Amino acid sequence: MKNGDIPREGNASIDEKINSMTNAYAPLFSISALNPLDNEGLVSIERYFKDIMETTRDALPFMNPHSREVYVTKVSRRLSDFIGSERYLGSKEEVHMKRLHDYVNLMWHVIEANDQSYNGHQEQVSLGLHSKNVASLAVSLANAAADYKLGITTHDIEIIRASGILHDVGKIIVPDSILTKNGKLTDQEMARVRPHAEKGAEIILSAGFEEEAMYAGAHHIRPDGKGYPEFPELMGVNTSDIRVYILPFADMFEAITRRKYKHKNPLSPEEAMAVAQQEAGKQLHPDLVKIAVETNCMVRTYHEINDAA
Ligand SMILES: [Fe+2]
Ligand SMILES: [Fe+2]
Repeated sequence: MKNGDIPREGNASIDEKINSMTNAYAPLFSISALNPLDNEGLVSIERYFKDIMETTRDALPFMNPHSREVYVTKVSRRLSDFIGSERYLGSKEEVHMKRLHDYVNLMWHVIEANDQSYNGHQEQVSLGLHSKNVASLAVSLANAAADYKLGITTHDIEIIRASGILHDVGKIIVPDSILTKNGKLTDQEMARVRPHAEKGAEIILSAGFEEEAMYAGAHHIRPDGKGYPEFPELMGVNTSDIRVYILPFADMFEAITRRKYKHKNPLSPEEAMAVAQQEAGKQLHPDLVKIAVETNCMVRTYHEINDAA
């Protein structure tokens, strides 16, 4: 049976199938019993992760949003055991970056597995493609902003890159019918979409990445306060810090140049920059808009991504 042949949302028999599959894998989830430093432990860990990824690829496309949330949170937590092991050497910063790199790579499999549910890769809704593009655009903007002596460091840029890949992982809780809907979302549908930012932050935090969780949780905030979540400060977001507005800019630019703008065709990068200028101080941070206009970084990166594809 092909993935696209069955509706995965709210299908009780599929839920049962997942439950029994998760139970069958329960022993694999007790990884903390393994000693990561002995050779046998390491071999088991590698095998364990191959199994998790294979299970994820087979199972995720058939889960309803609730099962997906439970499952992905579980996987994220188990990954944190893996990346928390003492097999990483180096300075504190080096160890953090290596752990983050492994975590992002492993979560990337989860994001790609989720994409399979849209009956193959439908470009319009592919979270994988969107996340990769957002990360590239955000890094480009962060690099441009770093040249303006705003205190943005190499560390910040690497964290923003990783957060860009992970930022929409919380979308796994949004029903497919809403994500793939053509046209304006109703108020009820928007109420189902909004929690994805906080949910993504929770998943990332479950693996112990605080800063990355904060950036991902803040990717829909706006300088005029009309974004979401309503109280980003509760997630540790400093709303007067320009760095937290980098992902929201990249996210908006990617969405309107690839998916749709006001429910119509996607915009050219130049048209998207015109929208960005109208949104300066409203949806987007005015200094970041100024930097993007002066350096042309977003348009340039748009072409690097799309002309190469
Ligand atoms: Fe989002
Ligand atoms: Fe996004």
